[in-house]
Amino acid sequence: MFAHPTVPVIAIDGPSASGKGTVARRIADEYGWVYFDSGLLYRAVGMIILTNQVDLSHLDRVNWATIVAQLNPVVMAHPDLKLESVGQLASRVAAVEALRTQLMYFQCNLLSKLSSDQFLVMDGRDIGTVIFPDAWLKFYITASVGVRAQRRHSEMKKRGVHHTLEEVAKDLEARDFRDLSRQSAPLKLAHDALLIDTSHLTAQEVFQRLCYFIDAKLKKAFA
Ligand code: CDP
Repeated sequence: MFAHPTVPVIAIDGPSASGKGTVARRIADEYGWVYFDSGLLYRAVGMIILTNQVDLSHLDRVNWATIVAQLNPVVMAHPDLKLESVGQLASRVAAVEALRTQLMYFQCNLLSKLSSDQFLVMDGRDIGTVIFPDAWLKFYITASVGVRAQRRHSEMKKRGVHHTLEEVAKDLEARDFRDLSRQSAPLKLAHDALLIDTSHLTAQEVFQRLCYFIDAKLKKAFA
C-alpha cells in the first residue's frame, strides 16, 4: 500500500492503430491496475445514434445526457463496436463538444472505482490533455500512417474483415484528420507527455519501454 498521487492515472493518448490500446491493457494486467478504453465510449455513442436513427446532419439537436445515460456494460461490450464504420461514426460524434462534456463526467467518475493502491490506465485522444491534465504519467503513442494501416489491416484480417490496405489507410487518414482538426479536445501531444514512436518497435518492446518509465517513477515515489 502506498500514498496515492493526486490523480492516479496513466494517460495513453495517440492516433488510431498506434498500439496504445494493446500496451495500455498489458500495463494494467502487469501491475494489477484498472484499464479503461475511452474510445469505446465514443463508439458506443455512435452505435446508439445509429440504432436510434438520429439524423447526422443535426447532431446539435441531440439530447446527449439521454444518450450517455444509455451506456451500460452490455452496450459497451457489443461486438459491432470494433467495426471500422462504427469507428468513423465515433470520430464524427466525438467532435461534438456537448457530448464530450457529458462523457467527461463519466470518465472522471471512473476514479471512484479504484482501490487505494490502484491506478487507472486509460487510452484515448484527450486523456492527458483534457480529461486528466494532472495525470501521474502521460504517454503519447504514435507510428507512421503506413505502419498503422498495416497493423489495422492484419488485425481486421484476423477478425475475418476484408478490406484492401489502401482502403484501411484512407479510413485512418480520414479519422486522423477529423481527430486532429476538430475544435473540441483535438488529438495533440500534452506538453508533459512522453512521446513514443512505435513504427519500428514490436508490441513487446513498446510494453517494456512504458514499464521502464513507470518503474522509474514508482521507484522515485517510494524513495
Ligand atoms: O481503436 P482506435 O484507436 O481506432 O479508435 P478508438 O480509440 O476506439 O476511438 C474511436 C474514435 O473515438 C476516435 O477516432 C476519436 O474520434 C474518438 N475518441 C475521442 O475523441 N476521444 C477519446 N478519448 C477516445 C476516442
